[in-house]
Amino acid sequence: MSHRTFFPFSTNNNKQTSILFDKMWTFGYVKNNKKYVDLSLGSCGCFPLGFTRKDFVQSVSEKLLEFPFISGDFKTTNHQVTELTEIFYEMTGYHSMFAVSGSDAVEAAIKMADLYHLNKGQNRKYKFGFADSYHGSTFMSSSISGSTYMHQMHGRQVDCLTLSWDINEVEKTLNYDTSCIIVETCSWQAGLDTQTNEWWQRLKKICEQYDIILIIDDIAFTGFKTGKFFGYNVEINPDIVCFGKAVSAGYFPLSGCLLSQKVKSHIEDHMFLHGFSYSFNMSGILSALYYLQVDKQEGLNDQYEFVKNKYSSMFKSLPLRSIKNHGLMFSLGLENTINKELLNLFLDQGLYLGLWNQNLSKNNVLIQCPNVYDEEYADKIFTGLSNIIK
Ligand SMILES: Cc1ncc(COP(=O)(O)O)c(C=O)c1O
Repeated sequence: MSHRTFFPFSTNNNKQTSILFDKMWTFGYVKNNKKYVDLSLGSCGCFPLGFTRKDFVQSVSEKLLEFPFISGDFKTTNHQVTELTEIFYEMTGYHSMFAVSGSDAVEAAIKMADLYHLNKGQNRKYKFGFADSYHGSTFMSSSISGSTYMHQMHGRQVDCLTLSWDINEVEKTLNYDTSCIIVETCSWQAGLDTQTNEWWQRLKKICEQYDIILIIDDIAFTGFKTGKFFGYNVEINPDIVCFGKAVSAGYFPLSGCLLSQKVKSHIEDHMFLHGFSYSFNMSGILSALYYLQVDKQEGLNDQYEFVKNKYSSMFKSLPLRSIKNHGLMFSLGLENTINKELLNLFLDQGLYLGLWNQNLSKNNVLIQCPNVYDEEYADKIFTGLSNIIK
């Protein structure tokens, strides 16, 4: 029975039956011996290698026996935290701050931007996100998101405002009152549209002109989903990057921020008031370290183009209204609006819809394909979708 559980992003009136799964298979759930593919691979792609990699659980558990906890308070750390920080520094040239959920990392990034201006004696007020974007469900992260359905219900932090994706409008809107802007590597909720390099360069230029902190939310694209460990556009040298979800291949949660030298040097002398009991979530840190080791052994990046092309051609062979992708995340346009009947059809076919960009149009399905090619997964997706859209 599920009626004593209170579910996130759901109504909780017990009128709808919840699908209770018995166990996991590699890419989803099992109920009464029927396999369901989780099309989002765990809340927007937390598990790009699937759900049954026992080696992650084993490796992390063994190491946890040595060092299960470090709080981070008063600058306490251990060699595993510093190892991950060093690896990220070598990969990006950025410093690391760790957190547990993506929302928590986004809040930290906004606070860092405020601290930056405070320390420079700059009086900055406004924080901008983009229309229809998603950055989390805590008050500040939902406020800076373009998720109007959340603002309508819970209100919005008054200094948070929404930008249009039109870069000319962005140019007209931002000024010396702006503290920071946050933008996703690619916004799944806003429709998975990829911005051009020119768009990114202009955005960066506007931020430089007014000394605005540019935060990139890479949470949905970290973890080899775009052919690189981090998915953001490195050419624009953002001031802060938020990561999360697949940074640890999902098994143990980890999120955080990468801080540029510019931001670090302006905030390092001041107290950074953002921390939790599990600021250094050891299981997540160990899981991320193990994921990077797995890449070395299994060459995840080398498989990227092959995997992406396989799924692209598979989707192109289906009669879809539209196909968009960013890395291994695809948005498929269906002819029908996603309603209860269509949802049931997906379930009949063993396809469990984790997330879809429903705010924008209720006939796009979001699919996070795994980082590795698996025949059973591909066959299930192909057969299921063929039966639905024939
Ligand atoms: C782009 C993006 N940012 C932030 C978040 C918030 O992460 P979390 O749900 O771990 O708090 C999400 C979650 O879906 C996301 O997709």
